[in-house]
Amino acid sequence: MMGVIMSDFEELLHTKVNECEDIIIGFLPEETGYQSKVIEAMNYSVKVGGKRLRPMLMREFYRLLGGDNDQLIAPFMAAMEMIHTYSLVHDDLPAMDNDEYRRGKKTTHVVYGPGMATLAGDGLLNYAFETALKAYPYAKNLEKVGGEIEDRFIYALNILATKAGIYGMVGGQCADIEGEGKQTLTEDEILFIHENKTAALIESSMMIGAVLAGADQKAIESIKKIGSNVGIAFQIQDDILDVVGDQAVIGKPVGSDEKNEKVTYVTLHGLDNSRKEVERRSNEAVELVKSLGEDNEFLVELIEYLISRNK
Ligand code: IPE
Ligand code: IPE
Ligand code: MG
Ligand code: MG
Ligand code: MG
Repeated sequence: MMGVIMSDFEELLHTKVNECEDIIIGFLPEETGYQSKVIEAMNYSVKVGGKRLRPMLMREFYRLLGGDNDQLIAPFMAAMEMIHTYSLVHDDLPAMDNDEYRRGKKTTHVVYGPGMATLAGDGLLNYAFETALKAYPYAKNLEKVGGEIEDRFIYALNILATKAGIYGMVGGQCADIEGEGKQTLTEDEILFIHENKTAALIESSMMIGAVLAGADQKAIESIKKIGSNVGIAFQIQDDILDVVGDQAVIGKPVGSDEKNEKVTYVTLHGLDNSRKEVERRSNEAVELVKSLGEDNEFLVELIEYLISRNK
């Protein structure tokens, strides 16, 4: 980023994004065989960019809770980004939000066609589990956590599986589609959508980091709350940027929600109240992070940075 003056935090963030990216790319499959086209589409979708927030949060919580084996956490970081990317590839499909730009580039279905993009999403979801399983050799000798968590590896895999599915992201996307074209949604419905389509993957990233580090049930519960607050705030901010953002910066179209007649936090409560809610939830998350461990400075700054993110 030549010529741009960055704060210490921004420089550290930049370094960490690059580290996460190297880890993720290191786990991508080789583009060979008769299936090379789908692998190309998968790799295109992942490599094209993104904030790498979920793997970063996973590693930060892993470290905050005392984890120190990069080989154990790395496959889960890559797996989470694969699942997140698959959710974006499918979310952009003509049958869903029908958007042509993502991460500053043409969406996967525009480049490879909707059939191949559908398969690329399927491939990424499955490959996420093939990847997470690569952590097994480093998970064999992990100790039990009290009487609570018998096997940290299986516990983490279970979180990964559940929060991506019908009791998480897929469930939220279901309610999101069903909400299209409605005049309004109840507070309960909009919260369900945010909690599931977005917070589920953010929450589970943090939780997996903590579980693999050996956190106990009490810490995991607290981290769940942090993830829920950060995730809901993150989606409200996404909905704000869908109205007032700059496509050149957010890397995806502005006005997608209006085009698809979505009821969002912003349509329900207006921009000002939405901004306040992002701040309120983020502050709550920050207080909980501070109570978890000493070395929390970067995480606190990251959550605060997300409140005013413009991409
Ligand atoms: C976009 O997530 C989808 C939402 C849940 C709002 P991100 O804003 O994290 O997208 P990338 O990974 O940076 O592209
Ligand atoms: C999608 O929410 C969240 C996902 C599970 C992909 P949006 O539809 O608002 O996400 P963007 O704005 O396209 O990234
Ligand atoms: Mg959507
Ligand atoms: Mg969308
Ligand atoms: Mg959006």
